[in-house]
Amino acid sequence: MSDPHAELGQFIPLHYHYNMLNDNARMRGFKAAIDHTVRPGARVLELGGGTGVLSYFAARKAAKVWCVERNPELARAAREILALNPHGHKVEVIEADAFDYLPPEPVDVVICEMIHVAMLREKQIQIITAFKERYLKKFGGPLPLFVPEALIQAVQAVEQSFDFEGYHAPTYLFQDPGVMQSKTEELAAPAVYQMLAYDETLPAVCTWKGTMPITQSGTLNALRFITKNILAIVVGKQQTIDWHSQYLIVPLPQALHVRAGDQIQLRFSYEAGASFAALSEGLQLSHFRTASPVTPISRPPAPHAARSEQRASAAQTL
Ligand SMILES: C[S@@+](CC[C@H](N)C(=O)[O-])C[C@H]1O[C@@H](n2cnc3c(N)ncnc32)[C@H](O)[C@@H]1O
Repeated sequence: MSDPHAELGQFIPLHYHYNMLNDNARMRGFKAAIDHTVRPGARVLELGGGTGVLSYFAARKAAKVWCVERNPELARAAREILALNPHGHKVEVIEADAFDYLPPEPVDVVICEMIHVAMLREKQIQIITAFKERYLKKFGGPLPLFVPEALIQAVQAVEQSFDFEGYHAPTYLFQDPGVMQSKTEELAAPAVYQMLAYDETLPAVCTWKGTMPITQSGTLNALRFITKNILAIVVGKQQTIDWHSQYLIVPLPQALHVRAGDQIQLRFSYEAGASFAALSEGLQLSHFRTASPVTPISRPPAPHAARSEQRASAAQTL
């Protein structure tokens, strides 16, 4: 794979893996989901094993785990760290490309966490699509269970401060979903633009054309992308085990003053695994002004202004 676009997001340095281990919400969610999904004695495959932590969670119940990792430094680290842990001997770390690898026998569960917010950069969708095709060809059905099982993506209009101690930098930003964001004003409720289940046919493209009602007046200068991973569905209890990727703030090239009651029409389309730029370049936003609020009788407006305020405005395209 020499195409730099295809390589995007597939190399994550070892030190960043230590940050991922330190992310309690991620660790707790995956541990609970894997514990729920993997039955005693199961056979498990992990695609993109990193430090081996998710394979370790699986090995606590599984009979055998195949852990595929392409980065040699990480494959080495995973072997070393797994050897420090109980059940680590049940995990076989294989240095290979998940686009090519298939386990020697059918598996009950596949774990794959190659997820970046908005499904940008990392190749989760392509890897799982390719895996299912090759797996069914080699072993026939049924497909194994997937962890995560499903994905929900949403987008939200926001007013974002891009001021950093007086330095104005309208850049992409990440936000911890569990922390109140004092520099972000929500101007609309999140609008869901994608829902998928990994055992179904997966779309190669993340796309949406929809309308977002503005609920709070402000300066719309950014969009917040929200990626909720359904790690496991607890059948019978109507519960899910979830993990939110970090939110992504995408600055807009031009700010818009919006009022509660206005409508924003948004359109975008990008390939799963594409760059941030691909998302930004494909964004189209139109603004529909609401009719003005009823004017009090005691202060009649000039007929001109009243007419223009009561007219729904034409779309403004960014
Ligand atoms: C987001 S990390 C997750 C690591 C680990 N599963 C965890 O949860 O901590 C994704 C991992 O997938 C690996 N990876 C990316 N593309 C791959 C490929 N084509 N084949 C095998 N591993 C790959 C990366 O090197 C990285 O270790």
